[in-house]
Amino acid sequence: MLRFFNTDKKKEYSDEDICIDLNNIPKHIAIIMDGNGRWAKERNLPRTIGHKAGVEAIREVVKECSILKVKYLTLYAFSTENWKRPKDEVSALMKLLVEYLKKEFKELDYNNVIINYIGDISKLPDLCQKELIISHENTKNNTGLTLNLALNYGGRYEITRAFKLMYEDIKSGKISEEDINEETISNYMYTKGMPDPDLIIRPSGEQRLSNFLLWQCAYSEFWYSNIKWPDFRKEHLHKAIFDYQNRDRRFGSVE
Ligand code: IPE
Ligand code: IPE
Ligand code: MG
Repeated sequence: MLRFFNTDKKKEYSDEDICIDLNNIPKHIAIIMDGNGRWAKERNLPRTIGHKAGVEAIREVVKECSILKVKYLTLYAFSTENWKRPKDEVSALMKLLVEYLKKEFKELDYNNVIINYIGDISKLPDLCQKELIISHENTKNNTGLTLNLALNYGGRYEITRAFKLMYEDIKSGKISEEDINEETISNYMYTKGMPDPDLIIRPSGEQRLSNFLLWQCAYSEFWYSNIKWPDFRKEHLHKAIFDYQNRDRRFGSVE
């Protein structure tokens, strides 16, 4: 049951239970899309079917974030640790990624979405890299939601990479020690130029970060749920945003 309101226009969009303030939509939502394997297991299905079912949740959440005018949505799709999984599962995930991009490109582009990726995609199969690069090139001038697909992404890897890039810039004289501060460090992350995630959502019952956005999550609000990712729908997103809007973000202050 959802009701939207807009504190400027004092306009109500429908008459239901959860009330989302359209003027306080998180700018950046990040989601750890977890629970595909358990969803499948509960149904005596192979894990890959769970991943396939998870694509429907992606479609719905991306669309809803666009409608709600979220500026950035980061989806954790494959971690630097997920290479430990059986080869068949990894291949199935890579195949699903290509299928998703091919199938959804038109609609994402039509909805003004910028398709972006974070992580070391050079380790992904060539076809995945190609599809990601084309999708990004063809949507980079859009002005709506930026969809960050986190692929072969790891927070510690990202921070290590930032150290290396910064070291190179110091060596070449591009920057000096005095230039190093929290803001400049942020500029060495994949998320350069983007606000830190306001809200990090993890379904499936696990309550851990699993190496996601370690630098960026300093003041993120966390939202956990037992729902498995393939069952995640816009109602869950609304509830997460509603809860977020009812939290008191103090950032270390007293107010
Ligand atoms: C998340 O679902 C998808 C990826 C990590 C790629 P899982 O595959 O981790 O599902 P569970 O945690 O085993 O249920
Ligand atoms: C985190 O989920 C990674 C993604 C959702 C892509 P995992 O299922 O890999 O994390 P752990 O192993 O439960 O920590
Ligand atoms: Mg998992």
